[in-house]
Amino acid sequence: MKSALATAALLAAPAAAYHACADEERASYPKLCGLLDDVAKDEAAFADMLAKSPISTVMEEIEMPAARKLADGEASALPIVVAHGMGDSCFNSGMKSITKAAGVKVGAYSTCIPTGTSRIKDTINGFLLNMDASVDVFAEGVKADENLKDGFNAFGLSQGNNLIRGYIQKYAGEPGYPAVSTFMSINGINAGVGAFPNCAPDAKHIGGICSGLTEILGDLAYNSFVQGILFQANYFRDPSKTDSDKYKKYSQLAQWENEGDDVDPSRNDKFTAVDQYVWVLGTEDTVVWPREGEQWGAMDPEDPFKTLLPMNETAWYQEDKFGLRTVDEAGKNAFEQFDGNHLQFTNDELMGWLEKYFM
Ligand SMILES: *[C@@H]1O[C@H](CO)[C@@H](O)[C@H](O)[C@H]1NC(C)=O
Repeated sequence: MKSALATAALLAAPAAAYHACADEERASYPKLCGLLDDVAKDEAAFADMLAKSPISTVMEEIEMPAARKLADGEASALPIVVAHGMGDSCFNSGMKSITKAAGVKVGAYSTCIPTGTSRIKDTINGFLLNMDASVDVFAEGVKADENLKDGFNAFGLSQGNNLIRGYIQKYAGEPGYPAVSTFMSINGINAGVGAFPNCAPDAKHIGGICSGLTEILGDLAYNSFVQGILFQANYFRDPSKTDSDKYKKYSQLAQWENEGDDVDPSRNDKFTAVDQYVWVLGTEDTVVWPREGEQWGAMDPEDPFKTLLPMNETAWYQEDKFGLRTVDEAGKNAFEQFDGNHLQFTNDELMGWLEKYFM
């Protein structure tokens, strides 16, 4: 009870109000500012709009697996932390059931950590609380949960993985912030996205959150105003701009990858401290471009819209910018894939990965 109250207090602070645009911000970013006007008017309606957007995936409830019985003397598995994807929330029935099913399957405590105190705030903050700030809130949620104090396994869905990865690189192992043993990234956006294909400007999807996302494409994503607000801008990685001064200076993802101006070797130490990574790719994913980024492939900066580099040919890997090569050479990377679009894995596939990596 005590820890739940502490979490609520911590979570409430950054979510209190969303940014209100100044005139010059409005002149440069009319659509993003229009979205901020909308959220100020009616948060519930805004959250509903997000949940229905073409880039959102609200998970459905899943069937409960049979409860695992531990054999005499068998140590129980580590607790599980789950992080939800875009437009979804820990307070929705689908995420509740996935979280519960994961715990039942491995026979351990499981919890979904939100970045807002209610369904509405948690959904909105997946867009309008920037990635670094979201990681900070997520980390306080982890810290406040007594059940996690001896370490945990974690899996994320879509951009939820950025929260776990950010926690690993910024918090894990610091006093009060438990270590992550296995991190399973399902359709993760850890490598960023170079486009928002489901927001392509066909007549069907004009408006809503897509209007704000298409407004910030290209260089317009890389400044302190946009980076300070929009989670999706924080991991927008235009493959033709990765060498630009603005990307290096302002992109939050660039700093995380140690490919920006703020290079910090402690990120490598923290990334390599995890015992096991599992990178899960959807072979027909049309939300993440390039989808191979879910397993650390990237577009070739020499030919950014045509040639894809596999993980081991990227600069991340070859120069071991944040520890990916070290973990790979230590045998800590596992790769899984399923035939389907973004987050369209089957219940059996999810249970199979949990059995293989979390038990
Ligand atoms: C990358 O990995 C593939 C598959 O394991 C291998 O065939 C290729 O030679 C590797 N490339 C480099 C540059 O190491």
